[in-house]
Amino acid sequence: MGSVMERLSTGVKKLDEILGGGIPRGFLVAVAGEPGTGKTVLCIHFAWQGILEGDKVVYVTTEESRESVLRQAEVLGMELADAVERGNAIVIDALLSTDQWSLRTLNPEDLVEKVVEAKKKLGYGRARLVVDSMSAFWLDKPAMARKYSYYLKKVLYKWDFTVLATTQYAITTSEAFGFGLEHIADGIIRFRRVVRGGRLRRYLIVEKMRQTPHDLRMYEVVIEDGRGMRLVGPIDLRAEDFALPSIVSKKIVESRKRSEEAVPGE
Ligand SMILES: Nc1ncnc2c1ncn2[C@@H]1O[C@H](COP(=O)(O)OP(=O)(O)OP(=O)(O)O)[C@@H](O)[C@H]1O
Ligand SMILES: [Mg+2]
Repeated sequence: MGSVMERLSTGVKKLDEILGGGIPRGFLVAVAGEPGTGKTVLCIHFAWQGILEGDKVVYVTTEESRESVLRQAEVLGMELADAVERGNAIVIDALLSTDQWSLRTLNPEDLVEKVVEAKKKLGYGRARLVVDSMSAFWLDKPAMARKYSYYLKKVLYKWDFTVLATTQYAITTSEAFGFGLEHIADGIIRFRRVVRGGRLRRYLIVEKMRQTPHDLRMYEVVIEDGRGMRLVGPIDLRAEDFALPSIVSKKIVESRKRSEEAVPGE
């Protein structure tokens, strides 16, 4: 057994450098962040990079339709639709589609079954899986997030997948919907957003990557039409730059307290 870890390029050059060469094969990495921060764009890069390297690619979409994902890839300059045509990638649509590659329910068991079916269809070899978003599978039962994450990780590893799974954070509180994936995942790539001087800025930081040293600094995320994502930096930002104004935090706490008090019989 060689001691050098095999790594998969994310398709975003600077992110690979931050990670010390890419995502270690077999890892499950959580891509976390508020809406519009670049999670899906990164997932598309990861999938497309897989195609370029001859990997099998399974892409599960729960928030957007298959067509929307393929169109997004196209405007960013990635011919993912051709890869699907050629039989190198399968996009599983959990939202709109009713064909063979759709999900009828948002149960983790159904997800695994469909993903394994897709892997069998694509054939033997190194594979990449994107689940965008994983939160969708426990939105109505957030307490199950951890147990489901563990189950998914255990099963998918056996099928030679390296997995990128997104998890959504509320824009108001920056909290996850069911914190669980983050603990189970081998790594966390965290996107953040800040409106500064009337302009939206997005940032990325690798919060965790097991078994490997990684860059601990924050980078600015730039998304360009026809080209996709690139990172600029590192950027010098303080925690205060992301904190909610105290008046807003206070209001959130108060309104949460009120809604808890309003639940009958609790
Ligand atoms: N072709 C493009 N040219 C320039 N910017 C783009 C392009 N496509 C997407 N973007 C930028 O990327 C953002 C969307 O990023 P993305 O869809 O990855 O967010 P997300 O984190 O997945 O959000 P959500 O949680 O809502 O799914 C858009 O809001 C836009 O600012
Ligand atoms: Mg998205």
